[in-house]
Amino acid sequence: MKIMVIEGPNLNMLGIRRPDIYGNMTLPEIHEKLSVLAKELGAEINFFQSNHEGEIIDQIQKAYGVYEYLIINAAAYTHTSVAIRDALEAVGIPAIEVHLSNIFSREPFRHVSLLTPVCEGQICGFGYLGYEMALRIAVSRLKGVGR
Ligand code: DQA
Repeated sequence: MKIMVIEGPNLNMLGIRRPDIYGNMTLPEIHEKLSVLAKELGAEINFFQSNHEGEIIDQIQKAYGVYEYLIINAAAYTHTSVAIRDALEAVGIPAIEVHLSNIFSREPFRHVSLLTPVCEGQICGFGYLGYEMALRIAVSRLKGVGR
């Protein structure tokens, strides 16, 4: 079970950036916890973060034929990027969209996600736990549980 976590702009600033909204954990800390959980669940997990839209698209394309599931927090590009949406649709790899914050309780421009329609579902508002839930769901789906 090969799973890739893709993260967008400014998520490399976690720990510094608005801890009141995003919590105190840094991105390496989140990745470390997810790596431990993935091992427990018998999955292989890899991570990619970029502040650049095109690099995220390249990574989604490279995942084709390699990864079986994507967990994506495209950060601000969630609300703007038709190109990331199209890349997810093009590769057809099942994906879960994750947001640390509850995007629906924030500014109106965050209420719209261009990505949810091409993902299996979305988890938001639970901080790091959302990633953990997404990983557990991804593994279950790959095992055919809950279908
Ligand atoms: C975010 C929510 C986005 O609106 C924001 O631009 C981010 C982070 C989240 O994880 O809560 O950068 O994706």
